Amino acid sequence: MLELSELSCGYGEVVAVQRLSLRLEAGRMLALIGPNGAGKSSALGAVAGHVKVLGGRLTYDGATLERLTPGERAARGIAWVPEGRRLFGDLTVRENLTVGGFVRTRRAEAANLERVVALFPRVGERLRQLAASLSGGEQQMVAIGRALMAEPRLLMIDELSLGLMPKAVTQIYQALARLRAEGMAILLVEQNTRHALGAADSAVIVESGRDVWSGSAAEAARDPALLGHYLGHG
Ligand SMILES: Nc1ncnc2c1ncn2[C@@H]1O[C@H](COP(=O)(O)OP(=O)(O)OP(=O)(O)O)[C@@H](O)[C@H]1O
Ligand SMILES: [Mg+2]
Repeated sequence: MLELSELSCGYGEVVAVQRLSLRLEAGRMLALIGPNGAGKSSALGAVAGHVKVLGGRLTYDGATLERLTPGERAARGIAWVPEGRRLFGDLTVRENLTVGGFVRTRRAEAANLERVVALFPRVGERLRQLAASLSGGEQQMVAIGRALMAEPRLLMIDELSLGLMPKAVTQIYQALARLRAEGMAILLVEQNTRHALGAADSAVIVESGRDVWSGSAAEAARDPALLGHYLGHG
């Protein structure tokens, strides 16, 4: 469904990603891991249409993405939960879900809101609360919920668990497992390698903008030497 082949992208003179390749199918989860500054966020930004592609190919559903605007990509089912979540703190949770995201039709909106609440009951209990008053974990659930309002087929989440309580992280991973089982493709950027490799099907390790290792997530999780080599820990 999504394929990056030797993709390079960056900002003006700065090349953030160089010849990064990965493939992700529907109903699968891929973890993109690597040290700070490796280019993980930039790669997601390039897929979402916010970071300039400098070379290589970006294919989604067999068609090239480069010429599409971020809005056109969202309409085709590509959703992106950026690093830091970027909610509107002074709007309610409901407003963040309904006006903050990509809207299809009113009827679809009501049905999608129901789906989000079913997936994250805590969000349902807090629809009238200001987003700024939520815990980090609840905010991440709202950010993911907002992305789901657009009925994506590809969900990209940047720094899923950063700064969140373990219990919230577990709940979010359970929700992602359900989405994956329903056929969604999930592309995850994680600091928490153990969690990411435990949940994902495949993994790509990025270093200085390049893919230095790719394979099954279970294989990477079983190989502390591999993780130690690239990430400096086991
Ligand atoms: N807006 C920007 N303008 C210029 N350079 C940028 C910009 N954003 C990122 N970069 C550079 O691109 C490279 C990759 O950064 P990126 O944020 O994609 O890495 P990352 O793997 O997401 O890192 P982190 O784990 O810290 O989030 C870095 O060298 C960074 O300095
Ligand atoms: Mg990043």
